[in-house]
Amino acid sequence: MNEGEGRVLCVGLCVLDIVNVCESYPEEDSKQRSVDYYWQRGGNASNSASVLAMLGADVEFLGTLEQGQEYGFLRSDFLECGVHIDNCPVHVEGQYRCPVSTTIINRQNGSRTIIAALNNISELQIDDFMKVDLKRYKWIHFEGRPGVDRMYELLNAVHTFNESCSVEKKIVISLELEKIKRPELLSLSGLADYVFISKEFAMSLGYFTKEDAVENLISHCRKGYMATVICAWGADGAAAKSGSDKVVVSAAFPPDEMVDTMGAGDTFNAATIFALCNCAGLNEAIAFGCKVAGAKCGIRGYKELKGLKGANVTVNT
Ligand code: ADP
Ligand code: FRU
Repeated sequence: MNEGEGRVLCVGLCVLDIVNVCESYPEEDSKQRSVDYYWQRGGNASNSASVLAMLGADVEFLGTLEQGQEYGFLRSDFLECGVHIDNCPVHVEGQYRCPVSTTIINRQNGSRTIIAALNNISELQIDDFMKVDLKRYKWIHFEGRPGVDRMYELLNAVHTFNESCSVEKKIVISLELEKIKRPELLSLSGLADYVFISKEFAMSLGYFTKEDAVENLISHCRKGYMATVICAWGADGAAAKSGSDKVVVSAAFPPDEMVDTMGAGDTFNAATIFALCNCAGLNEAIAFGCKVAGAKCGIRGYKELKGLKGANVTVNT
């Protein structure tokens, strides 16, 4: 296999997370000291890329980056994690703003409260995507970002590529639908092999259990084809369904102490993709997703997932 072949590509946003860990969730108009403060590279696709790298995958992130004060930190963090970013368009300083989230982690339960400043940010365009050599990838994971027509173009470009190649060279496509403000993106489900739908998104559509969600949401996936819908459901684990197969479920694997739940969903998606890339069955894959996501809830950030060997999960590196 040539260098770079068989790589996983995560397409979406890279965000600077400014994290304050608090003893308890603050009251409005109060003043308290945080117990910890740090910058962390975030954004759903960027987080999933980090987790894939920690699990030992050859992984690349593709999304826009902005020159400016945050750029050096984000770039060196990608490189430190071993996530390739060679194809990211980098805008000159001042053209757009770097997405920044101010986040509060509650030390009592690991809950994360995120205030995302996403004004005047740029989204990856089809022209940027077309510059990438698709032959290098075995799997492309898309974070559902605003702009259904733009998202359609990105997904469709992979379909067009797939039509031109033999079965073993086709790229597996996954799509994450997380934000309830973007229900229109559900119409893109038919373009993906695996659709990851968040609990919040599923509940906004009227599904209140993970089983009910996947049982019904599969109807949006490609017909006559073994497309798969997967729903992570917080402390209740996850469920998945392929075509007309039976629903499969996994329990959650909570850590001894909830430290940081930010990016638990991104971690679940990455670990499930990792398992599927390594020929796991669907139930095995979501169980691995839940184990790694559970382990992630017990640590700060993602880096300690590398080589993690705990009660619930062994990560080979
Ligand atoms: P998001 O980060 O998108 O809100 P979820 O809350 O659905 O994602 O969590 C994703 C996965 O993380 C779950 O499927 C589960 O495996 C794990 N997880 C999240 N919260 C908990 C929890 N309280 N206890 C155990 N596992 C959890
Ligand atoms: C976690 C996360 C954070 C980021 C926010 C963007 O899932 O990706 O890293 O600040 O969500 O919505």
